[in-house]
Amino acid sequence: MFQEISIAPSILSADFMNLERDIRTIEEGGAGYVHVDVMDGHFVPNITIGVPHVKQLKRIAGIPLDVHLMISNPLEQLPWFLDAGADMVTVHAEVLEGQWINRAIDLIHDAGAKACIALKPNTPADVLVSVIGELDMVLVMSVEPGFSGQGYIEGSEDKVAAVARMAREAGNDALLIEVDGGIGVKTVERVCAAGADVIVCGNAVYAADDPKAAIAQIAQLGNAARLAAIEGGALR
Ligand code: DX5
Ligand code: ZN
Repeated sequence: MFQEISIAPSILSADFMNLERDIRTIEEGGAGYVHVDVMDGHFVPNITIGVPHVKQLKRIAGIPLDVHLMISNPLEQLPWFLDAGADMVTVHAEVLEGQWINRAIDLIHDAGAKACIALKPNTPADVLVSVIGELDMVLVMSVEPGFSGQGYIEGSEDKVAAVARMAREAGNDALLIEVDGGIGVKTVERVCAAGADVIVCGNAVYAADDPKAAIAQIAQLGNAARLAAIEGGALR
């Protein structure tokens, strides 16, 4: 059966003084997740939000929280975010050498959450070869992490295709591939044709005149591109 893509609007582009209203808007618009960008001013230049916000968001959100940790010390911080109620937790491969990547996945799974590893634009997909079978999701960054509203890095869809291939070879048919950065009506089709399942949108949703219509349009374009790729034999 055709599996539709999900849209995960990033609240980094929302109105922080009206966050509950902005979360209701995306829920009503059919979003699949609330994408929560946590930045520590060290792994990335920017500082955003942390554990107390995730705790409060969990109380009001009716859809799962997709928490993207752009932080240098995820192993120390993971228990806090898991305790705060993160449903899907993403940690970056660049700060988890060797066995520490397995440790992070185990910590997330032991708390009953879903585990995702993110790759910065210059990190190759094959760093995940030993763990891809255990992951629920892989996040392919299509901008350098740190800020919303940047332009999509051309060719990022090739890494999406590489992750999809690796997942197939590992027999992980349930793996989701998320793409984050610079995605909107102009770029969603190419990532969905390459195998993206979850589309993060910051500016494309929250800077739109009608965020609900923007979600619907991005989803429609992405689903059509995905269907065409399946029918053409490029995707399963
Ligand atoms: C970037 C963040 C993204 C970002 C997306 O470091 O991880 O989630 O806010 O915003 P847009 O869609 O505007 O690029
Ligand atoms: Zn993000």
